[in-house]
Amino acid sequence: MQQSYKKYGDFSKDGLEFIITNPDTPRPWINYLSNGEYCSLISQTGGGYSFYLDSGVNRLTRWAPANYMTDQPGRYLYLRDENTKEYWSCGHRPVEKSSAFECAHGLGYTIIKTEYANIKSEMTFFVPLKDSIDVCLIKITNKGKNKRKLKAFPFVEWLLGDWSAELGIRNITILLNRGYFDKDSEAIFVTKYPWAEKKWPYFGYIATTLKTNSFDVDYEDFMGKYRDYSNPIAVENGKCSNSTDVQGMNMVGALEADLELDAGEEKEFLVMVGITKSKNEAKKVMAKYRDLGNAKKEFENTKKFWHEAILGNTEVSTPDKEFDRAVNIWIKYQVYMNNHWGRSATFYHEGGGEFGYRNTTQDAWAMVFLNPEYAKEKLLKLMYHQRSSGQPLPGWSFATGASEHKPPSDFPIWPVLLLNAYLKETGDFGILKKKVDFYDGGNATVYEHIKKSIKFLMDMASSKRGLPLMGSQDWNDAFDRTGIGGKGESVWLGMGLCVALRNMEELANFLKDKKTAGDCRKRYEEMKKIINKVAWDGNWYIYAFNDYGEPLGSRSTKEGKIQLNAQTWAILAGLPDEDKLKKILKTIDKDLATPYGQVLFTPGYTEYNSRIGRITAFAIGTKENAAIFCHGGAFKVTADLKIGRAKEAYKTFKQFLSTASNKDIEVFKTEPYIYPEYLVGPGNPRYGEGAFSWLTGSADWFYVAATQGILGIRPEFEGLLIDPCIPSSWDSYKVIRVFRGDRYEITIENPHHVERGVAEIILDGKILSSNLIKPSNDKKSHRLKVVMGKPCSKSK
Ligand code: GLC
Repeated sequence: MQQSYKKYGDFSKDGLEFIITNPDTPRPWINYLSNGEYCSLISQTGGGYSFYLDSGVNRLTRWAPANYMTDQPGRYLYLRDENTKEYWSCGHRPVEKSSAFECAHGLGYTIIKTEYANIKSEMTFFVPLKDSIDVCLIKITNKGKNKRKLKAFPFVEWLLGDWSAELGIRNITILLNRGYFDKDSEAIFVTKYPWAEKKWPYFGYIATTLKTNSFDVDYEDFMGKYRDYSNPIAVENGKCSNSTDVQGMNMVGALEADLELDAGEEKEFLVMVGITKSKNEAKKVMAKYRDLGNAKKEFENTKKFWHEAILGNTEVSTPDKEFDRAVNIWIKYQVYMNNHWGRSATFYHEGGGEFGYRNTTQDAWAMVFLNPEYAKEKLLKLMYHQRSSGQPLPGWSFATGASEHKPPSDFPIWPVLLLNAYLKETGDFGILKKKVDFYDGGNATVYEHIKKSIKFLMDMASSKRGLPLMGSQDWNDAFDRTGIGGKGESVWLGMGLCVALRNMEELANFLKDKKTAGDCRKRYEEMKKIINKVAWDGNWYIYAFNDYGEPLGSRSTKEGKIQLNAQTWAILAGLPDEDKLKKILKTIDKDLATPYGQVLFTPGYTEYNSRIGRITAFAIGTKENAAIFCHGGAFKVTADLKIGRAKEAYKTFKQFLSTASNKDIEVFKTEPYIYPEYLVGPGNPRYGEGAFSWLTGSADWFYVAATQGILGIRPEFEGLLIDPCIPSSWDSYKVIRVFRGDRYEITIENPHHVERGVAEIILDGKILSSNLIKPSNDKKSHRLKVVMGKPCSKSK
């Protein structure tokens, strides 16, 4: 029988928390606690790890590979009863004895409640807005009739630094470890000594507000021999061995303290784990959080910040509450985490700490509509990470700087999409004149930067057929040998170029830069002609030609025959005529459809082909090899919306939601509140399984598709365009939208049950003749009533 995600938990009534009631979820279901500099990944039982600025080189606490299966180690709090000598852990794991369990993942916090032997515990984890620490506020209650003498053991295990070195040569990295217990501040401090050019200028620390009786820094002393997290010898004995001055050994941060509770009594305390450059600074932070009042204030501030960040912009209310919850809360939250951490650290990824250019651009693009200031900062950073030739750098790290090798070929496509979105949302056209340095010297205005990336892209279209050269890869990273010899061509890249050119043309036209607009138009028409001539395969578009001139995504191939992105991007680029459109829609709806949404292509590759790349080596249905790739699904929805396919767009949008009713949670496995990167595709025994959850561009695209496409509230250069593309069954819906400082309360009525078309539009009681609302710039609240039906004359 199909099992719903509700078997393991459900959303709170207001949708702001996901409450897990069964700790044995099919995978760890995690949360990101993060202020953008410090980040803590935490599972429903407290598993997970923390890092600072860069998850690749600045890991603080230990992480073990594939922790999506093991969920170990984590931030643990052991309790021991001094009379019975029994011990357990407050997060349920690792001792796994609790008789009651609940974990609420909220926006910026996670609360885990358990109970064992009449002792109730509640741990509230959060990362404050400014300080680089994990805070855990703890409440322990004695529910029994007798006084209880307990011991509390807060615990973490340190990694300190570069996870890959730690995995590859732990025998060496361990020798760099130093740690000790500092009596004055009652805290454990740990660090790694510098090694060749690998400097690690930080200290980790752990402290509690309880009086520390004993401690351990040495892993072995705390853990004992042949034991694991579920039965450390120190906890079993009720005392740590005061191992300090640890040199060149595995290190933990373990403390022990008395906790006596009268019958019915509740005690509160706190544990903090942090990273710092100076011990004095750490001591200040510790002093601040040792005052529980301060800590609670910080918790309230953190909660408030997240609630405002997520709820303080667009708010939608439609007949579909599942849609509302995703669009109002969880997709936005995921977009924030994408922006904070790129594609670095998850429970699946090892986590290189770099921000890749392609992903960052798309993350910032969606962020424009949540927090334009934040997006602007990213935009300017992206402009700087461009060479004067127009070529973007592959990416950068906040710890180690930019990387300088040759980037994938699609990177120059994305900046113009971001810039246009930013301008349309904010009207901040002044930014176009802002001078920004190039990474390799010199500077230019933002407008010039963008023109250069377009020019760079156009110059790549230099194959014999006139298509862009694929180079090391295009959007699809795993076609990594297709064009490696310098001859392979990407049709998809040509489509991406067309989309970028249309965006550039639109901007140049608006700025009355006739020459640029004209050049873009001309180039667009040329590319359109080329693609339609050389890449039309009879019923769909070919995806690419490899170095040997062999097509990928063609009827002449046995595997990888029909590629979704080549069809959806053809639509986004406006390439197919009516006949071709009909054919590709048929293939999208029939050949590529699964009950969970469209696959990236069909059929998957079954044998390694060095003329194509690693994609062919991946197990069928996994990752880029014909998975149900959420990013691709979001492109599909966006393409549907572009051509007004309301029903299909909505259907696919709902299929990709992790809460979709046809998902069996025992098959799907990953968190129901956010998108995984992909679902395993057909042909694989794990068909339908979610994988690589959390950091994925699909959240970016689905957010924009839902708000601007389906709900149809779309910023344009001149104002806010109202152009719904909704299920015809909807009677009405509401959107609250802040646009350029004005607040619009929009009610959209659909008396004739159409999918598209604005018949009447009334702003503050006055009928408008167009569905484009010019900004009033009065920073006031406005009422907008929209009636759908046959479009009014000046509808755009
Ligand atoms: C991953 C990458 C993204 C890429 C996609 C397809 O999601 O983060 O950048 O486009 O895979 O390869």
